Amino acid sequence: MYCKKLLIAFMGLAFFGANAQKRIPQVEQLLEKMTIEEKIGQLNLLTPGGGVATGAVVSENVEAKIKAGEVGGLFGVAGPEKVRVAQELAVNQSRLGIPLLIGSDVIHGYRTVYPIPLGLSSSWDMELVRKAAQMAAKEATADGINWNFSPMVDIARDPRWGRMAEGAGEDPYLGSKIAEAMVKGYQGSDLSAANTMLACVKHFALYGASQAGRDYNTVDMGKIKMFNQYLPPYHAAIDAGAVSVMTSFNDVDGVPATGNKWLLTDLLRDRWGFDGFVVSDYTSLNEMVAHGLGDLQAVSTLALKAGLDMDMVGEGFLTTLKQSLDEGKVTEEDITNACRRVLEAKYISGLFDDPYRYLDTKRPERDILTQEHRELARKLAARSFVLLKNEKGILPIRTNKKIALIGPLAHSRENMLGTWAPTGDLSLAVTILEGLKNVAPNSSIKYTKGANISDDPGFAKRVNVFGPRIAIDERTPEDMLQEAVDVANTSDVIVAVVGEATEMSGESSSRTDISIPESQKKLIRALVETGKPVALVLMSGRPLTIPEEFELPVAILQVWHPGVEAGNAIADVLFGNYNPSGKLTATWPRNVGQIPIYHSVKTTGRPGPKDGTFEKFKTNYLDVPNAPLLPFGYGLSYTTFEYSNLKLNKNEIRQGEGIAAKVTVTNTGNYDGEEVVQLYLRDVVRSITPPRRELKGFHKIPLKKGESKEVTITLAPNDLKFYNSQLEFVSEAGKFEVFVGTNSDAQLSETFTLK
Ligand code: NOJ
Repeated sequence: MYCKKLLIAFMGLAFFGANAQKRIPQVEQLLEKMTIEEKIGQLNLLTPGGGVATGAVVSENVEAKIKAGEVGGLFGVAGPEKVRVAQELAVNQSRLGIPLLIGSDVIHGYRTVYPIPLGLSSSWDMELVRKAAQMAAKEATADGINWNFSPMVDIARDPRWGRMAEGAGEDPYLGSKIAEAMVKGYQGSDLSAANTMLACVKHFALYGASQAGRDYNTVDMGKIKMFNQYLPPYHAAIDAGAVSVMTSFNDVDGVPATGNKWLLTDLLRDRWGFDGFVVSDYTSLNEMVAHGLGDLQAVSTLALKAGLDMDMVGEGFLTTLKQSLDEGKVTEEDITNACRRVLEAKYISGLFDDPYRYLDTKRPERDILTQEHRELARKLAARSFVLLKNEKGILPIRTNKKIALIGPLAHSRENMLGTWAPTGDLSLAVTILEGLKNVAPNSSIKYTKGANISDDPGFAKRVNVFGPRIAIDERTPEDMLQEAVDVANTSDVIVAVVGEATEMSGESSSRTDISIPESQKKLIRALVETGKPVALVLMSGRPLTIPEEFELPVAILQVWHPGVEAGNAIADVLFGNYNPSGKLTATWPRNVGQIPIYHSVKTTGRPGPKDGTFEKFKTNYLDVPNAPLLPFGYGLSYTTFEYSNLKLNKNEIRQGEGIAAKVTVTNTGNYDGEEVVQLYLRDVVRSITPPRRELKGFHKIPLKKGESKEVTITLAPNDLKFYNSQLEFVSEAGKFEVFVGTNSDAQLSETFTLK
């Protein structure tokens, strides 16, 4: 500690933080001129309520506050003209003319909406993920946005939690790669360029571990699990250069994240070297009052001292910090430090050079919803789909077949974009009915709805907060079902599009029953009873429990919520123009009783039998096996792949050395395809209990029919490391097992020893 202080003193005023970023002279000069009120003003983030308000309040008197220098940034305002009005107020009418940050939730595309993040992660294609983020940045910046509340990198292992839709699933390794790709996509190599925006990593931290999957709930987690399983994606996003971080609503070790000094200063800044700024989530500062940490002044003091720089919507900083300064509860230096970080972000995004650099009125027309972007959205969507089952090769469908297209999501434009797409335009989304007709114009397609998404009006009302996503038909469920069976009977093949409406997952959309609603289950059963081949196209924002449907003799294509090109992409895959290659990034449980469920579990001291049978006094259930319905990394293709010849380049390595695994993968089926080759590692003996196995590498490769390829996956020295009881990142000598294959149950294995 003493040494560190000395070092910082030595570096003097020219540097701060472990990352030692140089102070920016323009910012320092500006700080000299600022009153304390103006500094506090920069810490205030408001929304005039134009977008989606995710809390109970929206900001008032925004214009007057901007003029008074009481606003550092806005969100919920978009379009060059509108943003210009706000920016001109700040630049021309506030005393110091400091431009505003303009934030937005660009979670999966801006106007060109691509698949929900959980879907995107299922592509396991990091270059596509980066491109998707880059496209989102291009569109959002064309509309005046310079700061994005994304990526959301919360590890989630409880599919009851609706916000699983917004992240990359359960795995810290994959989650880290995706975090990095997204930050790079948004921020590019030059943050002051007019088509890049600041990333904001959220929700720091552990939000995905809300107890019982209930949104905004308490989190209770030990440090070993935190460091090894939940923190890596945030850390990876910081290492990739993310300029801002958003705190989470939950508490971490008893202190709400927004006021948690250990989290925001000791870990984020001092240990990880983060030198950007930290913003609260929507009123999460004020919510510390309800958490039980004191009144607004007390929690605002706590948050500032903890390392929070900007207060989203709650105005706790704006209304209490001056008083706290006068009373000696915070120092001017505390306020200046926070203000400096906000100003530095503005500086690096180029706003001081030209506050209007994101406000070219010609750009929206030129850069938004272009043909190129829609093509990318279609490609991304097709690559996000996961083929869960393909009984008797029902898929792909030949275009000369008579198709019965049935289901409440088959022609439901309002459910294609998915949760958190406030900037998307529902009317542009392509439905499955339209997509099939676009891709196979000469095919015979008969459509009928067949069932409501849910027959329960009370449930529908709760889901329909942003508009009618669950529309309950005027016909009776029996009439709809009969019509569906009649249509099905005249067809060669049935495509049934079923699952969750968009707002059945996402924020504040937790469910304790994550099965397909009963109305649709009935429909599925009736369709299967016709004896016709049935392909289920399953939409959802989370893993669902589908044990009964999985037993049926059907094909199941999981499509998440695919975005604006939904129908076209689904048709591409159903007709075999693209062979599905997605893999699950979250385990699918058999029932909610298995939750939390994830692949990198500990073996425990009493492992259950490998074949899933029950054994007394072992860790297992009386009623279901431990194994999930579908493991992490799982996904089929229209073709088949075989793995052989797994070899390591060494049997023994020393500390600091890497190792490479080579395997032969052969396309043994009848279609060209793509496969995600996955490598898992088990650290056989170590000082803290190792997970059963952990993902440590993957490659997505194309393979032509009949083709074989040798694939090499290299493990770097860090891939062998973990956080020990002292929270040191170490690797320990001993035996390691390497597994390579098509999912997290990969069987081919080799061993090596770390000396
Ligand atoms: C609340 C959400 O938790 C967060 O993800 C989002 O960025 C903010 N609202 C702003 O809309």
